[in-house]
Amino acid sequence: MPSTLDEVRTSLKQRLAAARNTQDVRAAQVEYLGKKGTITAFLKQIPSIAEDQRRQFGEQVNALKLWAVQAIEQRLSDLAATPQNYDIDFSLPGQIMPIGKKHILAQVEEEVESVFLSMGFDIEEGPEIEQEYYNFEALNIPADHPARDMQDTFYLAPGTLLRTHTSPIQVRTMKRQSPPIRIIATGRCYRRDAVDASHTPVFTQVEGLVIDKGITFADLKGVLQEFVRGVFGSSTNVKLLPSFFPFVEPGAETAISCPICGGKGCPTCKNSGWIEMGGSGMVHQNVLREVGYDTSTYQGFAFGWGIERIAMIKYGIRDIRMFYDNDLDFLVQF
Ligand code: DAH
Repeated sequence: MPSTLDEVRTSLKQRLAAARNTQDVRAAQVEYLGKKGTITAFLKQIPSIAEDQRRQFGEQVNALKLWAVQAIEQRLSDLAATPQNYDIDFSLPGQIMPIGKKHILAQVEEEVESVFLSMGFDIEEGPEIEQEYYNFEALNIPADHPARDMQDTFYLAPGTLLRTHTSPIQVRTMKRQSPPIRIIATGRCYRRDAVDASHTPVFTQVEGLVIDKGITFADLKGVLQEFVRGVFGSSTNVKLLPSFFPFVEPGAETAISCPICGGKGCPTCKNSGWIEMGGSGMVHQNVLREVGYDTSTYQGFAFGWGIERIAMIKYGIRDIRMFYDNDLDFLVQF
């Protein structure tokens, strides 16, 4: 216990310097200035001091008290300005900082890309604002062709539109490179469709194109088979059904054995055991000629599937609108 005023000052100074947080400072405040505090005890002595010394002693004690009050305030504000001295209770649960992640469609796109990269494909890109020529004419869809109705188009200006599919990337790639070609291209497409559980005006496709000498329908089936096994699991099968697209001949609709029931039949595959995934076929001679390829030397196949559809089957999502609602409760699950 300090016995002189100077000792009190020195010891309080040390206490404050050693204080690591506000609690330490408050404890010192009680010890020195509280009801039973050291400085308070000196203040209480003042009336009993001999009269000739009382005034001087009183002034000294009061000066000490004033100094102590200020020193405590000063220490508190220093601590407040120094974050590492904040009171830290390490037993409190931490604050969870939500971190962003890739959208499910971007994840599925990357998964598809990685399967094709492993088969030696390159990845191409094309513009979303496209010329009518690449979106239609060069793909053997002339102006009066009824297939244009299938793809209700957003026109931006005469001859310029939002691409309705990723197939124009085929044409752009073939015009830029000569065979052999092995590419896929993913990207957004646009159609003036009414919104419902399976249609949105914006959607995503993956386009594939292979051109070389001696490419056959069997190569198409083999590549698609490898693709669906990579994405849906090794027991998934592919079936090709006759279909029509102006840019392929023959054209085929591609179905996969239902990955949910394994082909036995369930609500997702409407009890058929098969799910239609998208179009494909052997690239039409008119398309090859349009890009200046020698059709007697080169053949190829192409396919175009919906990324949303792949994601819906893979994750059991029943409504395509969920991809575009930006509902975090939905998106954080993937
Ligand atoms: N472009 C077609 C569509 O969006 C899909 C398609 C079908 C792409 C057959 C192809 C193909 O490359 O060969 O409906």
